[in-house]
Amino acid sequence: MSDGAAATADVVIESFLDGDGALAELGREVREGLTRPLRELPPKLFYDDRGSELFERITALPEYYLTRCEREILNRRAPEIVALSGARELVELGSGVASKTRALLFAMAGAGTLRRYVPMDVSGWTVRRCADELAEAYPGLAVHGIVGDFRLHLGRIPAGGRRLVAFLGSTIGNLQPPERARFLAAIAALLDDDDRFLLGVDLVKDVGVLEAAYDDELGVTAEFNRNALLVVNRLLGADFDPRSFAHVAFFDPAQEWIEMRLRSLRPRRVSIPGARLELELAAGEAIRTEVSAKFTPARVERELAAAGMALEELFTDERGWFGLALARRA
Ligand code: SAH
Ligand code: TRP
Repeated sequence: MSDGAAATADVVIESFLDGDGALAELGREVREGLTRPLRELPPKLFYDDRGSELFERITALPEYYLTRCEREILNRRAPEIVALSGARELVELGSGVASKTRALLFAMAGAGTLRRYVPMDVSGWTVRRCADELAEAYPGLAVHGIVGDFRLHLGRIPAGGRRLVAFLGSTIGNLQPPERARFLAAIAALLDDDDRFLLGVDLVKDVGVLEAAYDDELGVTAEFNRNALLVVNRLLGADFDPRSFAHVAFFDPAQEWIEMRLRSLRPRRVSIPGARLELELAAGEAIRTEVSAKFTPARVERELAAAGMALEELFTDERGWFGLALARRA
């Protein structure tokens, strides 16, 4: 299904998400999620062009500490991470605009080992934008962008020597436990002996701090959450009215995750032709749109081990709010 769409000097972009097959698959996923006892939408729906822009605004909000903490760790530790891994290639899953990634590329360039950057994201717009920007910033750097779903398309990542596979931003926390276990096992299978995995995880902390990060004063996160409904409208022909849904975010201590929901303010009938679904929502009924798991260091080590990986280092920021785990195949 690859269309090898764009190829300039050092940039190749492959897309695995185009076509009716992908849309039919999305329709099935949406139908399956919305017919569960607790209705649910797949979180990748957030990241159309508008959603990706809103997420960029979230990362700059005073309440959203995650990006700043992770950047602090990367700025301080990138040379050490690069030296420990000896990486020649950086593969990044859910790369977004790759703003923090630059610290790693800079360190690799400084060590003289930088050869190729392989960003993968469901947002084609961000993959193209970041591929072009980085190819320009690092003359001689080959960029092989992949527009794809990291739950389905890890097998499309090109073979390479000494790869550092980065999964930043605590995006791992947005996968629910069974899917997370499958995903980590697939990462372990992808790694060669001299490859390394770099995983960003948000750590368990004060509930007030956690909840504010997902319910900001300006309402950018609420807007981001509601945008998922606009994406369903556009892609699957649905007639959701986003203004009749309230944004809800709370910490669930039993699961150790933040849960995000959209609560229907009125009883509603929503038709979603692309999912072959007529949805009846009661007043006050909520749709879960995202979970964001928070980790303890012990849990990070345990989950990596269960997937066949060994934790080498866990770097944290000054306050111990965020962790960057460096792991190899066990
Ligand atoms: N790594 C960046 C962005 C994190 S936001 C950072 O740390 O700031 C999560 C990113 O993952 C978004 O860019 C989104 O488009 C992408 N994404 C979400 N679900 C995905 C999936 N299933 N496959 C590939 N990319 C996905
Ligand atoms: N990986 C990010 C996180 O869990 C994604 C995210 C940030 C997010 N803010 C959000 C997802 C708001 C949905 C809604 O922090």
